[in-house]
Amino acid sequence: MSGAAPVLTIDGPGGAGKGTISRLVAERLGWHLLDSGALYRLTALAAVKHEVPLDDEARLAEVALGLDVVFVAEAASTRVLLEGEDATSTIRTEQVGDAASRVAALPAVRQALLQRQHDFLKPPGLVADGRDMGTVVFTEAPLKIFLTASAEERAHRRQRQLQEAGVDASLSSLLKEIQARDARDMQRSVAPLKPADDAITLDTTRLTIPEVVDRLTELLTERGLASAT
Ligand code: DC
Repeated sequence: MSGAAPVLTIDGPGGAGKGTISRLVAERLGWHLLDSGALYRLTALAAVKHEVPLDDEARLAEVALGLDVVFVAEAASTRVLLEGEDATSTIRTEQVGDAASRVAALPAVRQALLQRQHDFLKPPGLVADGRDMGTVVFTEAPLKIFLTASAEERAHRRQRQLQEAGVDASLSSLLKEIQARDARDMQRSVAPLKPADDAITLDTTRLTIPEVVDRLTELLTERGLASAT
């Protein structure tokens, strides 16, 4: 891991706001962004595409190692190309999320994606969004955040997101899915979801997005990692 550029790690359960917050903080600082969840989602999607069973660890690790993916930064989002095809919205479906959570539980897959994640670290800095950014991938990060929110609030947020995309989903089924995914992410034996010992936990249940972005920018400034903006 390069020590030349600082890393802000943002870990936490799905729906805590990591994606939006990470993107906004990276934009404000002019830093790079790693959406590590997208790598697990892309591995799952590539596996389905190539008919690799989601429990065949060795073949899934090969899929992860050979992942042909391009991230294209655009104004308010990032477009993702898998094997040259736009996969931006496909990787966000519940089915791919569920499959991602399964492949993410396999140690060989996690190992295969490690170097690819380290490669995102370049000057002037990196915001790394995931589940194990502070505990496994960037253990030396000078600022580690664990972003969380109640499961009910996360289900509401997910429902709003889906509604904006024109998809209707019941709150109770979303809540069940979130709880099942939390349990799988927290109970797996390899890189389980948990705050790093030196992480700062931020509960966003009652915070707005700009409040969280401001708080993180303040913390970075206090630690001399960014200048006041
Ligand atoms: O954050 P997300 O919903 O896009 O992540 C998809 C799945 O990948 C989720 O089940 C957790 C898993 N994941 C992981 O195990 N480690 C990461 N660093 C990021 C995501």
